[in-house]
Amino acid sequence: METSIFTKLFLWVEDLFNKIVTSRYNVLYYHGALPQFVMYVLFISGLLLFAYYVPTIDNAYFSKNLVNAFTSVDYITDQIPFGAAVRAIHRYAGDAMVVAILLHMIRVWFTDRFKQYRWVQWVTGIVLLLMVMFIGQTGYYLIWDERSLLLTRMTVSAFDALPGVGEPLKFWFMNGRAITNLTLSNFLFIHIGLSFTLLFALWVHYVRMTRPVITPPPAINYILLTLILVVVFLFPITATKMADLNTQPTSMDVDIFFLWPYQLLAATGPGIFWVSMFLLVLILCVIPHPAVLRIFGAASKPVEAAEVVVSKCVGCRLCFLDCPYQAIEMVPAPAESRFKLLATVKPYRCSGCGVCVGACAFDAIDLPNLLDSDVTQKIKELAQAQQASA
Ligand code: HEM
Ligand code: SF4
Ligand code: SF4
Repeated sequence: METSIFTKLFLWVEDLFNKIVTSRYNVLYYHGALPQFVMYVLFISGLLLFAYYVPTIDNAYFSKNLVNAFTSVDYITDQIPFGAAVRAIHRYAGDAMVVAILLHMIRVWFTDRFKQYRWVQWVTGIVLLLMVMFIGQTGYYLIWDERSLLLTRMTVSAFDALPGVGEPLKFWFMNGRAITNLTLSNFLFIHIGLSFTLLFALWVHYVRMTRPVITPPPAINYILLTLILVVVFLFPITATKMADLNTQPTSMDVDIFFLWPYQLLAATGPGIFWVSMFLLVLILCVIPHPAVLRIFGAASKPVEAAEVVVSKCVGCRLCFLDCPYQAIEMVPAPAESRFKLLATVKPYRCSGCGVCVGACAFDAIDLPNLLDSDVTQKIKELAQAQQASA
């Protein structure tokens, strides 16, 4: 398969960054670590907001400022030292998360790192993206201003259009048959509960990678944090009007990162909205499948998995420790063997990268159609190229 013009362009940009900031500080090499770092910022700022947030619609209790969701958010913004800044950090870090995820997706797409044995990372990535989108949207419901009310009503009417599952979904979403105090506690539960579930989804995302890059050099984190703070300073969050269940707000400010589906819903109506959302998610999920890639002429050659020469393997585990994709499993050696363990390759996880061949000092693992000397030569070339660009 020919390298596409976009991939060449991407690699050119990557090379340019290497020349300007060196490969250690090339942000494109930390594409997965960026959303991970932003997630920490979101967790910490969210925890601070949670300390004063009151998830009710009706005026409830506490002091005169902390009587309902809207006034508690107002109280955080106006009365708590740095409250407005923490709120803005939480909101813009959410936007930064979407931007970082998009950058990550673009990078894995244009460097062809989503096919074959990486399909698990790709599909769990789509799940992560959907979760992040929904967490961000529930964040907007929590403020309980006119926009929150409009978004809640739009969601309820979109569920209404779904035959069969619409009613239970509506009931689940509103936590009852109408918008009440329980609705807001449900939104808070979804917002926080899904945020913690992200950690589990991330574990599944990483489980097939031996050494995922999740910590960039601190300088990159500081720059990212500074960028978020600049946006916080330039675009402070403005005051809005409290939701009133007796009114019908019809327009709202749209956050393009999280609320674009509502724009689509408003523009097309629930029928077209659900069909297009379903198709979008389906296409994104099936794209790594070889049959789909073949349609676009983008299928890669099938990988020829590494093979263990059973008679030579001493069970030293070096290949197992070095394999980047957890494609090697150590199993008990056959009874007639002098050794305890034997390496075995899971072909569906193997990328054919040859790292295990380089790791084995006993010539006990090979890539079919590739001699050990070829592999050693290939590894040397890659190491030299890496050193040259550093
Ligand atoms: C919360 C959001 C996400 C986080 C924190 C995250 C984080 C990461 C990290 C740290 C890696 C390892 C990168 C490396 O070692 O170079 C990775 C790999 C990967 N991610 Fe994500 N990811 C997220 C969402 C996504 C999304 C939305 C997609 C695509 C739909 C995706 C697709 C992939 C793929 C295909 C890989 C394997 C790349 C490789 O082997 O080089 N991820 N992710
Ligand atoms: S070639 Fe070896 S190191 Fe590379 S993925 Fe396959 S088993 Fe793992
Ligand atoms: S490195 Fe070689 S000898 Fe050691 S477990 Fe792997 S295949 Fe066997």
